[in-house]
Amino acid sequence: MDAVEIIGRHYAPASKSHRILLEHGRLVAEKALAAAARVPHLAPDLAFVESAALLHDIGIFLTDSPVLDCHGREPYIRHGILGREILEALGLPRHGLVCERHVGVGLSAEDIRRSGLPLPERDMRPVTVEEQIICYADKFFSKNGSDTPCEKSVAAIVASLRPYGTDKVERFMGWVELFG
Ligand SMILES: [Fe+2]
Repeated sequence: MDAVEIIGRHYAPASKSHRILLEHGRLVAEKALAAAARVPHLAPDLAFVESAALLHDIGIFLTDSPVLDCHGREPYIRHGILGREILEALGLPRHGLVCERHVGVGLSAEDIRRSGLPLPERDMRPVTVEEQIICYADKFFSKNGSDTPCEKSVAAIVASLRPYGTDKVERFMGWVELFG
């Protein structure tokens, strides 16, 4: 499978949204492969890590996120489950789960219920080592449409997670210990 070709089916190659998605995906893929190299004992599937990192945000074009040049109707938080639907329809269910399970450090059914998020109430926390690696790597790179994407510090990521609960910070710090 060719992740860049799949992206090109939904994002016009010269568009700003295409550039933002591909640039972000490549940064996340690079960070994810470096993380995977830290855990050879867990035998992560490197080809899968790379392609799933490129595709994890494919659902954003369906969301209303003008700053990302995305002009759909869905709330941004649904980009994960929308990406899962797109990739499942292409026969890529493992990649689809990466989409669903990368938002924040993963959402529990209780998180979704308590915060009244517009998502089905099911566990959306990363499970496999590949899902955890991509969720971890994604936290270092925001997509804000700026021309100079730079890597966030662990301290900045922790500060952004803290409002969502100490369990979120602890999950991320566990990954820092394992993958960082
Ligand atoms: Fe991302």
